[in-house]
Amino acid sequence: MSPLRKTFRALPLLCLLAAGWSAAQAEAPQLQPLPAPAAVNPALADLGRHLFFEPRLSGDGSRSCASCHIPARGFADGEPLSRGYNGTEYFRNAPGLLSVRLKPRLMWDGRGTELAAVVREMVLDAQFMNGDASIIAERVRQIPPLLALWRRAFGERSEPRGEQAFVAIGEYLKTLDFGRSAVDAALRGEAGLPPLADQGMRLFTGKAGCVACHHGPLLSDGKPHRLGVPEHPALMREPLRSVSLLRHVALRNLPNPMATRGDPGVYAISKNPAERGSFITPGLRGLSHTAPYLHNGRFGSLDEVVDFHDRGGGPGSELRPLGLSAQERRALVAFLQALSAPLQKVAEPPAHDYDAVHGSRW
Ligand code: HEC
Ligand code: HEC
Repeated sequence: MSPLRKTFRALPLLCLLAAGWSAAQAEAPQLQPLPAPAAVNPALADLGRHLFFEPRLSGDGSRSCASCHIPARGFADGEPLSRGYNGTEYFRNAPGLLSVRLKPRLMWDGRGTELAAVVREMVLDAQFMNGDASIIAERVRQIPPLLALWRRAFGERSEPRGEQAFVAIGEYLKTLDFGRSAVDAALRGEAGLPPLADQGMRLFTGKAGCVACHHGPLLSDGKPHRLGVPEHPALMREPLRSVSLLRHVALRNLPNPMATRGDPGVYAISKNPAERGSFITPGLRGLSHTAPYLHNGRFGSLDEVVDFHDRGGGPGSELRPLGLSAQERRALVAFLQALSAPLQKVAEPPAHDYDAVHGSRW
């Protein structure tokens, strides 16, 4: 057979191999740049922005979403564990909210599947804002600038309803995005990364295996994994933290709640014992602004988090020890830092007060 005919006979096989290779490429987890901003309803998002900063949504009018999700901290709060509603002391860390619209599962244990439903929990739950939908509706009616925004969003004849507040805040959250980071520029082929961060990116997607769980535009697979993060000592030491944890467990009907000795994570939601102590993989953008890290704020620096992953995590972890050199760990930290862009300026609305002339109407 002539060499040419041989090549032709081999062609289908070559094509098959090439197709298989590109399918494997497509399936391998990848890093992706941030997608374009979301298209939102501007009047609804503007109302949502005013409500996000409005303390009158909380039971006693003392705190807004922004008390725990502070814009200058990437919408996290800088505390290891959230303080919760006044005098309640929550048992987990408050996550940042930038690009939250891209998360398929919300909350550390993935119990949230829709933004508006998570906002409803934040406003109404006794651990966050302890609000009441009908009181909120009446309060909005008494605040003229808010009522005007409401009618611009929902129609001139509309009357405020609590449920609509959750939708409006959800719309505002869709407008919050991370800025373009050095890594985005590199992924788009616009500019190279500095050498240390570039080495870190190659480790992240190669030998260190981080990309298996941290991929896509947010660098999260949106799935539960167990790293064996040590419990925060305050959970057992501070009675109010224990109360918050036990209430969470009891509300989800876990058997024998009083025997709880740590955060059950995704297990409390899925009831799958294999997921005890698992948490949804967090995204890795903007970390320069959102320390401390992990579901319970156990580590204050990225070096500590990388060291922890390198050791293979704690008891029961899915991770395997990596045996990275100190230089390689530094490179990973440099890459993580290159995933943070400077924070964009957030337009905080002026504080609104109740109708000044209200008293004279009676
Ligand atoms: C008292 C502090 C506090 C207040 C007030 C608060 N949050 Fe939160 N927020 C948290 C904590 C803590 C969590 C994580 C809860 C968990 O995973 O169990 C959270 C989670 C979230 C999430 C899920 C984020 C993610 O990455 O999964 C969203 C969205 C959110 N909050 C929005 C809001 C909005 C909007 C408001 C105002 C209506 C608000 N929060 C008020 C503390 C607070
Ligand atoms: C098996 C899946 C998996 C792999 C592999 C993995 N991670 Fe994680 N990572 C997680 C989970 C899950 C968490 C949250 C754990 C928790 O809070 O209990 C996390 C948390 C983090 C955090 C903290 C983020 C925050 O907002 O608190 C950083 C930073 C991080 N990982 C970096 C890395 C690096 C770097 C690598 C590679 C060396 C890596 N991860 C490999 C699953 C993984």
